Amino acid sequence: MYTPAEEKRLFELSKQLLAGDATASITEKALMLREALNYADWKYYVQSEPVLADVEYDQLFKMLKKLEEEHPALQTADSPTQRVAKGLSERFPAVPHLVPMLSLDNTYNAEDLLDWDRRCKELAGDEKITYCIEPKYDGASVSVIYDDDLLVRGATRGDGVMGEDVTINVKQIKAIPLSAKLLKYGIKQIEIRGEIVIHKSVFEAYNKGRIAEGLAPLANPRNAASGTLRILDPTEVRKRGLNAVLYSISDYTLADNATQPKELLTHFDSLTWLYSLGFPAPAKEMVLRNSIEEVIQYCIDFEARRDDLPFEVDGLVIKVNSFALQDKMGMTSHHPRWAVAYKFKARQATSKLRRVEYQVGRVGSITPVAKIDPVPIGGVTVTSVSLFNEDVIKEKDLRIGDTVLVERAGDVIPYIVKPLTELRDGTEEPIVYPTQCPACGSLLERQPEEAAWRCINAGCPVQVVERIIHFASKDAMDIRSLGAANVQKFHDLNLLPDIPGIYTINWDSVKTMEGFGEKSVTNLRQAIENSKSQPLHRVIFGLGIRYVGETTAKTLASAVAHITDFYDWDTEKLTSLPDVGPKVATSVADFFAREENRKMISRLEDAGVNLVNDHRNLKPADGALAGKTFLFTGSLSQFKRSDAEAMVEAKGGSILSGVSSKLNYLVVGEDAGSKLEKAKKLGTVIILTEQQFLELAGNN
Ligand code: IVH
Repeated sequence: MYTPAEEKRLFELSKQLLAGDATASITEKALMLREALNYADWKYYVQSEPVLADVEYDQLFKMLKKLEEEHPALQTADSPTQRVAKGLSERFPAVPHLVPMLSLDNTYNAEDLLDWDRRCKELAGDEKITYCIEPKYDGASVSVIYDDDLLVRGATRGDGVMGEDVTINVKQIKAIPLSAKLLKYGIKQIEIRGEIVIHKSVFEAYNKGRIAEGLAPLANPRNAASGTLRILDPTEVRKRGLNAVLYSISDYTLADNATQPKELLTHFDSLTWLYSLGFPAPAKEMVLRNSIEEVIQYCIDFEARRDDLPFEVDGLVIKVNSFALQDKMGMTSHHPRWAVAYKFKARQATSKLRRVEYQVGRVGSITPVAKIDPVPIGGVTVTSVSLFNEDVIKEKDLRIGDTVLVERAGDVIPYIVKPLTELRDGTEEPIVYPTQCPACGSLLERQPEEAAWRCINAGCPVQVVERIIHFASKDAMDIRSLGAANVQKFHDLNLLPDIPGIYTINWDSVKTMEGFGEKSVTNLRQAIENSKSQPLHRVIFGLGIRYVGETTAKTLASAVAHITDFYDWDTEKLTSLPDVGPKVATSVADFFAREENRKMISRLEDAGVNLVNDHRNLKPADGALAGKTFLFTGSLSQFKRSDAEAMVEAKGGSILSGVSSKLNYLVVGEDAGSKLEKAKKLGTVIILTEQQFLELAGNN
């Protein structure tokens, strides 16, 4: 797509535009902004190597938007601003595919592949076959059409002949270019097939958010992708962060004046070419093999590392590489004869649903958990499957004694797909949802807008234990060795009645307990002692206020000098904080208004726990580097490391100690070594020079 020289030019152009240095006419400036943003999207979504910080991207985007608003004539159909859909789409009209979208025949083992190879050879006659292998992406199929270099349509598979016109949503997917230089190759119109996918990490983060809001998580990345594609609100589609892989050209027509049209001879070359034009083709994930034995070996090796990919894959697709041979071999009404799917071992299995247990969470939400006969799925024995909430049980019409289909998609938690109702014999019994808390017997309540039933007894023993576990956990007060098992033990022996009780444990009693020697007690006491000086945001997060996650806890901590300042805050004042909506504000205000919570806070203070915002971890949510993580490496010449680190923190960012997926920026000085290597390998870290860092931080 971009030559190294072009990449350099576009990177520098972005920086110039950000610095306001670009002297150009408004027409040129709009063009430059479009180029810079399209390049940034391609780097981010197709290459997974971001070149701009989020704030920088937003800045360029706003500049272009403003320019187009002031001069509507400058707006083009492929402007990145056109991805932002206005209003809601009412429904998706049915549209015909240019070429029917067929399915693939499946194979499951070496023998099946050998059979298929034999059939291919019979059809190919004397011609030698080369196979192209690529992942079988587990998402939602899509076809996109470009006409006169512009993306004009995106459609779902539908019944294969007719699909749904989801153009408006497809335009929200930044991996799919809004325009491409196809006319240059003599191509007027082209239809390309592919799969809309969702990164496993994006999917997990999305589900975390749903769970935090009391909603049932989506079952797997595939359902998430296909569901999202049909959402009627394009802004929501955009938020979900979909990605795409385009893996075959199904049709194209040449322009009338095409002098030297692009010659497409093989599948491999056609995808390499698409990739070079900026399309998210699986150029890096496809391989060629000259014999079926090599294909089989590749399939076996690949299956072993299927979980390493950022997307869910359910197999591999093997295609005859030569287009001439493909044409010769043809297709059945169902599938092409020149391609086959090799399906990985199912991560589904059936089992019997024996009973449902009800778990009480930290804030009292009741989660039903199905206990099933142990069944191995994808190398793990599954015995418990969360049912999330009562609605899920009702929607699926689950009954005790049902044979159920269980799926474990990749690293994703197992879930029940459906009961196999055809196997029912009449002995199945309905699941009776409890009306009382299984731990303390209090009556359960359910708010009309919530999915979960809750035990509202704050003294409920299970909730108390869960709250202590959360307070001591790694992301809160980080009291190592005070994990779930020890908390439960101490609580059972009345040594740890509640959160502040952590700081008044009777150690003489602990020493008499089995498994608590001198050394482990010393370590535990030290860890508890250390936790007293944790920054305020960790305390706030640890208190387990409903809807207050780590980010909100930081926002809250940075807004006060002492935690008790919140005693005077009302919901209105709380909602004035960034990212605090009415729901969070009500929950926070409620929490600090309660007498028992004020007592708890005062006991923590008496114990010597830091409740002051000492600005060490002040994270102004609107700071230039808010929420971003940094690491400095190599010898720095423009500033002292300690000063730069202080600057990062003052502007809302934080410093990490090593290169990991959590790192956003690595600032490199002279002779940077292994950290730089590792960051490059990871591909998700933005690498900055000292000068670039200063620009980003807004300090020249
Ligand atoms: S080729 C005519 N290649 O698998 C052949 N399909 O049953 C068209 N899929 O719904 C399919 N990854 O959406 C092809 N690399 C890949 C694929 C792939 C996933 C999906 C496709 C289709 C299903 C086949």
